[in-house]
Amino acid sequence: MWKPPARIKHTTRPGLWPDRQEAKTSRLFSPVTIGPLSLASRTWIPAMVPWRASPDGYVTDDVLAWYGRFAEGQPGAIVVEATGIRDVPSGPLLRIGDDRFIPGLTDLVEVVDRASDGKTRLFIQLIDFLTIRRRPSPDAFFGKYLTITDRHRDALDLRDAEDAIVRERFLQLDGNTLEEVLDARELESLRLGYRERVTDTHLDHIRDLPEVLPNLFSAAALRAQQAGFDGVELHYAHAYTMASFLSALNNRDDGYGKTRGGRVRMPLEVYAAVRDRVGGDFPVGCRFLSDDCIPEGTGIEDAAWFAVQFAEAGMDFLSLSRGGKFEDAKTPKVGDAIYPYTGPSGYECMPGYISDEAGPFGRNLEPAETIRQNIRNAGFNIPVVAAGGIHGFEQAEAVLTSGQADIVGFARQALADPDWFRKVASGRGTDVRLCEYTNYCEGLDQKHKQVTCQLWDRTSLDDADCRPSSDGKRRLEAPRET
Ligand SMILES: Cc1cc2nc3c(=O)[nH]c(=O)nc-3n(C[C@H](O)[C@H](O)[C@H](O)COP(=O)(O)O)c2cc1C
Ligand code: SF4
Repeated sequence: MWKPPARIKHTTRPGLWPDRQEAKTSRLFSPVTIGPLSLASRTWIPAMVPWRASPDGYVTDDVLAWYGRFAEGQPGAIVVEATGIRDVPSGPLLRIGDDRFIPGLTDLVEVVDRASDGKTRLFIQLIDFLTIRRRPSPDAFFGKYLTITDRHRDALDLRDAEDAIVRERFLQLDGNTLEEVLDARELESLRLGYRERVTDTHLDHIRDLPEVLPNLFSAAALRAQQAGFDGVELHYAHAYTMASFLSALNNRDDGYGKTRGGRVRMPLEVYAAVRDRVGGDFPVGCRFLSDDCIPEGTGIEDAAWFAVQFAEAGMDFLSLSRGGKFEDAKTPKVGDAIYPYTGPSGYECMPGYISDEAGPFGRNLEPAETIRQNIRNAGFNIPVVAAGGIHGFEQAEAVLTSGQADIVGFARQALADPDWFRKVASGRGTDVRLCEYTNYCEGLDQKHKQVTCQLWDRTSLDDADCRPSSDGKRRLEAPRET
């Protein structure tokens, strides 16, 4: 992963822990409403993909164990990982693109309810993403993927040559000549792997996204409702389809790009379709970016404006993230796919302990405050969720009392210690296993390996209740206290 050049090492600093009484009267452990729903506390585990679904996208026992273990800690809410809304193969990523996924998801709802003693509310994050291919070898790219055109023939002075001859010639060209002969997208496909964008309106299925996405999202949301989830989070963040509509890089000229109003149109139409399908009493919100964190991407001013549009449309909550884009991601090795959390914007999304002066703790809080203030100034009262490097009680409490957010997200800290919430609420904060923000978990995510935490995944592998990873070397669940 990319690290800020200053390379300053920061240490987790949790501050003071409350006793049971202080926790009880804190804002963090006070209830909050999300539309018609009440959370017992203002604690939230944001979505984290653990790569534990079956190869065809079903809930597995490992998925149940992952969420069940989080639920034992009794956070106010858990958001189930980004779950694919299309009925297409997506590897071991959860899917909700067909009714056949409902029974497994119903089991998941029941497991969380049972494990949390009914104290944790469960949301599911709904995601759409476009095609992305692995970086090809030059042989594969020129041998089959590149579509040979007259432009190539002219540039290579091979006007009447057969494709095979042109392909052969390409393989002999040096980098500089390739830059003259290939266009920017062809070069990108060669050097990074083919990647579709929402602006590729010359492709029918991309041009038609405004016609298909509202139905795909709303059908998925209805399935979530049928499975018993407490609400849905529309994934409008990071490198995926909906965030790409919102991005300042979106220059679609069909009314779904260019201006702020054009860029927010698709996300609003998707929301309207979802609301139509699930009714007014089912909590629906979205996760979006306070900042794309890439050159010429969306910044805080646009994000604050989008937030008001979402609130005005009737969303029940807004969860904020930042960065996580393809545009500045690291060049993948041949055979690997580009990964949106490997560049500076990826760092902003999941900041690690090797950082700059600002450090990894709370980088998204100031933007969250600006966005929340903008929503309040416009007369809306919906809760805002902020996350990013939050691990201490005092820090979380300050987020709430200073008005930076209404709910505090703990992603990696909850992975390091799923019992954080119960321990802190009962005055046992000193027993918390603190996340060190090493991003070992994120490295596993990048390789699509079952996600675990390095602080516990080699501990007590002989325990009777130890659930091993598929490589047999790690445990999949945080150990329980004895
Ligand atoms: C392994 C892993 C998987 C993640 N998957 C998702 C995801 O599916 N959807 C999402 O919006 N964010 C995802 N994130 C980002 C987190 O939700 C969170 O925004 C980020 O880790 C920063 O918060 P933290 O410092 O509390 O960990 C993931 C993070 C990690 C570490
Ligand atoms: S591996 Fe564990 S300690 Fe390291 S960042 Fe992930 S959750 Fe935190």
